This record gives sequence, C-alpha cells and structure tokens, in this order.
Amino acid sequence: MSFQDIITSDIRERLSRPTGDGGTCLPNACYTDAEWLKLENERLFARTWMYAGCLDQLAQPGDAFPTTIGGKPVLLVHGRDGEIRAFHNVCRHRGAVLVDKPCKGLAALTCPYHAWAYGLDGSLRTRLHFDGAGKHDLSGQGPGLVPIPMAMWFRAIFINLDGKAEPFEDYIAPLGARLPHHDLGALRLHKTVEWEFRANWKLVFENYFDNYHIGTIHPKLDAFAPMVDRRGFEPLGKFLHTELYFDAPEDGRGVGLPYYPNLPPGEDRFEAGYHLFPSCCYQVWLDQLTIFQVFPIAPDHTVEHLHVFLIGEAATDPAYGEAAQGVCDMWDELNREDVDAIEWMQKGRQSPAFDGGMLSGWWDQSHQHFARLVVEAMS
Ligand code: FES
Ligand SMILES: [Fe+2]
Repeated sequence: MSFQDIITSDIRERLSRPTGDGGTCLPNACYTDAEWLKLENERLFARTWMYAGCLDQLAQPGDAFPTTIGGKPVLLVHGRDGEIRAFHNVCRHRGAVLVDKPCKGLAALTCPYHAWAYGLDGSLRTRLHFDGAGKHDLSGQGPGLVPIPMAMWFRAIFINLDGKAEPFEDYIAPLGARLPHHDLGALRLHKTVEWEFRANWKLVFENYFDNYHIGTIHPKLDAFAPMVDRRGFEPLGKFLHTELYFDAPEDGRGVGLPYYPNLPPGEDRFEAGYHLFPSCCYQVWLDQLTIFQVFPIAPDHTVEHLHVFLIGEAATDPAYGEAAQGVCDMWDELNREDVDAIEWMQKGRQSPAFDGGMLSGWWDQSHQHFARLVVEAMS
C-alpha cells in the first residue's frame, strides 16, 4: 500500500483531534504492511538522528562496531587518531559488507571478499592483485568508504543517514535540559540484552511510553512508584517524557550500586523515562541508565537491545556483580511482563474492528503525539 492509501484524509483528521476527544493513533497498516516499513526506513529512520551505539562498544583505537540502522549496514570505527567515525558498511568494489562482527586492534579495514583495504579513516589504501595476479594497486587512490554524519552526546553515538537532519545540538538540547543534575558521562556499558518480539517496532516503543499498563501488568513497579503518582508520558517536540520522585530505592533500582555523582539532595529519588523520536528510549534511575534500541526485521518482527549502563567502575568491577545482576534481573522481569502485551497489540492489528483506537486524555497523549510525529516525518 502507498503512503496516501494508508494515511487518508480521514486518518489525518482524526489524528488532529484532541486526545480523549476523538483523537486517534496510526491505522493498522502502519504495523502490518511491508511497504510501510520500507517507507519508514527511507523517510523516517534515514532523515533523523538515530542512536547507533556507544563509545564502550568501540572503546579503544582500532575497534570497529557494525550495526544496522534503518535497515542499512553501518560501521562505527575508532580511529588510531582517536576519532570516532561512522561509515556505510559496504565495500566499494562489489558491495560486500565489510565488517560483520565487532573487531578490536585493527590497523585497517580489509574486505573479506577480495581484500581491498581501507584505513580506519575510510580512505582506500591497497587493492591487491587489482590489475592481475601479483599486480597490486598500492597507490592509495580510489574510492574510500562512504561516511555518515555522526555526533556524540556524552558517550552515546548518533548518526543521520541522509545528512539532512536538523543540527544535532538542536535535536538533543531538550533532553539535556531535562537532566541538569545527571552526569551521563559517568556511565559505562554494563551489558546489552537482546529481546525478540513478534510485533512491530512501534509497539515496542509505544508500550515503553505507556504508563497506563503499569497497574495491570507490572505489580512490582507499581508498588515501587504507584500509578496514582503517574500520568502519561508528555510530549515535548520530538521527545516524550515522564518524571517522578519515588519513596525509597529497592533491589535493581538503587541498592548496592553507586549513584550518579553529585546529585543534589532529593534528586536521588528521581525517575525519568524519555523517548527520543524515533530512535530510542532513555530510562533513568539513580544508579543506572538503560537505552532501548530497536531493529525492525519485518512489520511483525522486532529485535530490541536493552543497553544497561551503570556508574563508573560498577559497570565492570566484579565487586558490584551481584547488585549489577539485580539490575539485569529487574529488567528481565519487566520485559517478560511486557512481551505478551506487545504481541497482543500486534495480533489486534489484524482486526478490521480496530481503527487507531479510542484514547484516554490522561494517559495516551504520548501515543497520539508519536503517531503525529511519524506521519509528519514521513509526509
Ligand atoms: S567486494 Fe570487497 S574487495 Fe571485492
Ligand atoms: Fe511495561
């Protein structure tokens, strides 16, 4: 189906109504149609800043980290000169993917197919046997890797595939402004956990910024920070945010691990969740940050990475092992509770009786805002 077939004037009209007063979300085809996902790759993920990884995944000069963003193979490289660069992860010769797993200690990026070698800065270095057996091209002249604009925010790496997004500083400033007391530079990656859902990537995020289900699905989280203290995630331009103060830390959230350094009094009871459209979610508790990153495989198939960051040496020092495991166990429990809900919504999107939903004005503003952002970005 084409964009116009899916986003009809009727859908646009209902998207524009107030949440809780006739406003609605995206129609089913946005979650089930393969053409729509193709369009998302072209118009949504390529045109905006996307979380691509973090410095800890390529900590040393000579490290390279392949990933997939918006369906495109991408390579992050830590140069010998200390620079972090992003490239399209494809050899200029016959189009083989250049690096297919994280590598360390590289002096060059050598294609596994015919051994063209590129410097860590992306420039072409050598083409062995290029003019016949034993006749090497050592001139260093020729097509280098195609760079992708990138930006770092603390240790997080963002890329913009089409190079036409707004300046990164403008994109990230509202999030920075909401976390004035949290030194995100103190974080180190503890663990990345992979989850798989038989559901569209949007439902994985939409479930993240749904505070309404905490009472029904997450009894432990509800006891920690009850529904009565919450409201829905609130829109803020290209962000959604929810923030509250909880009473006391518990295992997996603030016990046995160092807190963000120099938090002012009271700020150690701060919880925050952010969705950075459309790329990722940032969940902040006093001793951790977890970034949710999704990899759409098919309209009804998503891989999610949960990157769990802890403060400083707590991320790697075995002395903190038990408490760090407590954080991962907490996330594991939460995600297990969520899998079914996410997949129920995907199944429901096969039903002609669902047409974008009837929303709660209190809880669901975030969902309608997200739907509007999707349509706006893809129009
Ligand atoms: S495809 Fe890379 S050297 Fe041939
Ligand atoms: Fe949940």
